[in-house]
Amino acid sequence: MAQTQTAPLLKVSGLKQYFHINKNFTVKAVDDVSFEIYPGETYGLVGESGSGKSTIGRSVIRLYDPTGGSILFDGQDISGRLSRSQSQHLRTQMQMIFQDPMASLNPRKKVGDIIAEGLDIHHMYSSRAERQEKVEKILAKVGLAPEHAERYPHQFSGGQRQRVGIARALIMDPKLIIADECISALDVSIQAQVVNLMKDIQAETGTAYLFIAHDLSMVKYISDRIGVLHLGHLLETGTTDEIFANPVHPYTRSLLSAIPMPNPVVEKRRVAEAYDYASSGIDYNKGTSHLVSGTHYVKCTDEEFARWTR
Ligand SMILES: Nc1ncnc2c1ncn2[C@@H]1O[C@H](COP(=O)(O)OP(=O)(O)O)[C@@H](O)[C@H]1O
Ligand SMILES: [Mg+2]
Repeated sequence: MAQTQTAPLLKVSGLKQYFHINKNFTVKAVDDVSFEIYPGETYGLVGESGSGKSTIGRSVIRLYDPTGGSILFDGQDISGRLSRSQSQHLRTQMQMIFQDPMASLNPRKKVGDIIAEGLDIHHMYSSRAERQEKVEKILAKVGLAPEHAERYPHQFSGGQRQRVGIARALIMDPKLIIADECISALDVSIQAQVVNLMKDIQAETGTAYLFIAHDLSMVKYISDRIGVLHLGHLLETGTTDEIFANPVHPYTRSLLSAIPMPNPVVEKRRVAEAYDYASSGIDYNKGTSHLVSGTHYVKCTDEEFARWTR
């Protein structure tokens, strides 16, 4: 649930993440991106491949030094040099779940030890028994059995492996989990299971999610608010209802029009709106943030805003 009255858990302001390839070429992977995540809510970040989604996730968890802008987490500015205690706080309170559970889980480690890794690193138990107890509790929470702790990642199905990934993040009792395309590689039926599990866990623990995906339909189901990213620019953001009821940016509109409708009669009449940045006449660098209503913002020029909202 969005709790917009309270202070944001995460406040990203004007984030820039540039990669200097060589002295003549810089990739502006993330350019002037601002958004907020409130405690216990899910923020869905959507955009096609290469739009900068993963880079935002990695900047937020400070795998990169941001080129510009600020990141406030839990009331602290974490965008500059981090002190030991800040870094420690971040490593426990912010966790990540990745797209490919097979690649992100050490194949030579037992699942119990994979899940307990964060506890081991941060000395978060006082006895073997307590460690064991915490692992079993988390396994139960993600729908796995105690004996799964003794098995290796290859002995699990894709959906089960993603449960292990979730358990590993969850055992740290984080305030924010960054889920980077964590269901994209799963079968559609398994996707729904994992998303439901994540929703249940959120209701129980109050953790917030930065839920990264390229599929707007799945984001709709889990997100309180949504941000639409393209070529490193956050083009539109608002509550899920605001975005779905009144998409303003042509790129958002094209993403929405691409979602198949469950009703075959409506689906037959669905017209996908094409969008091509190069021929659109739109220059993302000229856009500024315009308030549509409530918490709904669109990034464009004044002229575009007048045209798109009339
Ligand atoms: N470490 C890096 N060095 C150089 N370019 C990068 C690096 N990471 C990402 N990029 C580039 O930044 C852009 C955004 O990448 P990414 O954040 O992975 O997008 P997404 O997750 O939305 O697919 C892409 O053009 C990608 O090639
Ligand atoms: Mg990515």
